[in-house]
Amino acid sequence: MNSEKTKMDRRSFLRSTAAVSAGIAFSPMVFAGAGGKDDDLKVALLGAGAEGQVLMDSMLKIPGIRFTAVCDIWEAYNLKRVSRLLDRYKHPNNAYVDYEEMLAKEKDLDAVVIATPDFWHSPHACACMEAGLHVYCEKEMSNTLEGAKKMVETQKKTGKLLQIGHQRRSNPRYIHCYENIIQNAKMLGRITTVNGQWNRAASADLGWPKTAEIPQETLTKYGYKDMGAFRNWRWYKGLGGGPIVDLGSHQIDIYAWFLNANPTAVMASGGTDYYDKATHEWYDTVLALLEYQTKEGVVRAFYQVLTTNSNQGYYETFMGDQGTLSISEASSRGSVYREPTAPQWDKWVEMGYVNAPKAVEEPEKDAAAGPLDVRETVAPPAYEIPVTMEGMPYHQPHLQNFFDAIRGKAKLTCPGEIGYETAVTVLKINEAVEAQKRLALDPAEFHV
Ligand SMILES: NC(=O)c1ccc[n+]([C@@H]2O[C@H](COP(=O)([O-])OP(=O)(O)OC[C@H]3O[C@@H](n4cnc5c(N)ncnc54)[C@H](O)[C@@H]3O)[C@@H](O)[C@H]2O)c1
Repeated sequence: MNSEKTKMDRRSFLRSTAAVSAGIAFSPMVFAGAGGKDDDLKVALLGAGAEGQVLMDSMLKIPGIRFTAVCDIWEAYNLKRVSRLLDRYKHPNNAYVDYEEMLAKEKDLDAVVIATPDFWHSPHACACMEAGLHVYCEKEMSNTLEGAKKMVETQKKTGKLLQIGHQRRSNPRYIHCYENIIQNAKMLGRITTVNGQWNRAASADLGWPKTAEIPQETLTKYGYKDMGAFRNWRWYKGLGGGPIVDLGSHQIDIYAWFLNANPTAVMASGGTDYYDKATHEWYDTVLALLEYQTKEGVVRAFYQVLTTNSNQGYYETFMGDQGTLSISEASSRGSVYREPTAPQWDKWVEMGYVNAPKAVEEPEKDAAAGPLDVRETVAPPAYEIPVTMEGMPYHQPHLQNFFDAIRGKAKLTCPGEIGYETAVTVLKINEAVEAQKRLALDPAEFHV
């Protein structure tokens, strides 16, 4: 067998083992819909806004799933639109404004996918589990620790599955980085430092078509003071958790996963520096420092979330004494860099863990002349990560993992207990901004 073929076979194998870890198989993109079979899982979508539609699109590609109900309080807009879309994809469904009415009437459901604003997650998820449904609930698990705790307790009491929407946990690229690059090959050596960010450009508040305004009585009933707060709930205390919770939780979840540890202390500086505080109660800018005590030693981590400048987008970087891993959910970023003192990585290239770096043309040097500049620092070459999502939407493997777990074919990659640990960390960062001091975290705080 030639070595190119061997590499390809190993890569296919790596892809499939990463897929198996996530409980997914790389099936071709199919629109599953149509007709419905007896063993289809019957699913309701609760919250049919921007993310609800992203999840719906991914689920329409997964065979064996049938939508039978949709619930959303924005009757004249999102509810109507998504219900009609599902009809068009041959998923006939009943549409509801109120989740309690849906749970009272829909007796045939297996599961619910929840994509409502964060402050509704706990009441929605708990009511659904109590009604006997398995729950996929978007992050942030809850905007309060009490809410998140109640979800874990209800999950334990009912025995239903609870998957939290930190979808990178099922992403084959992330699984490959954790299992093969960090754990098996130990290509980073001892990890000492982590760095990550989500930088997002400044943007105007979300609006709404005036012809589709929700009556004030309905807004009040569901906890929104007006249409502005309903559309921009992320910025309001009591409704969302601000950008560190909304965006940061995805990546700080990866810090804990890859380090196999929760932080022992946090410090943070932040504020509503740019937007109007009346409509942006949560901090638009947060810079946080986290300390971890891992089996190998102390790890210090930095995380930044900006909502005024999009420089370099979003990524996580893990730095060790042998190498650096830089990874992002965005497929454009995923490389490992070897420290000059680390042993060669030919073996890991041969195994298909990383691609060989592309040859860089160096200007010819006179070796006898020695360094030409005392400041000369050679950037380490980039070894690319060979595992890709193969065109699959980011959320699909995580949803697939949830449905496979319902069928007893996989273990959840982000059960309630893990979602809870991440919620503790990000809510603590908001607390540290407020307190303006270093806050210690007791390991017991991460467990319900
Ligand atoms: N995993 C990810 O990458 C990701 C990305 C974006 C959003 N999210 C999460 O998804 C959730 C929804 O975010 P979004 O951007 O779609 O928000 P959104 O405002 O666009 O959608 C929320 C929807 O929920 C409906 N709704 C509000 N209260 C309700 C209630 N009590 N009962 C029924 N419906 C209700 C709204 O009418 C709206 O259609 C949030 O928790 C968010 O953090 C996750």
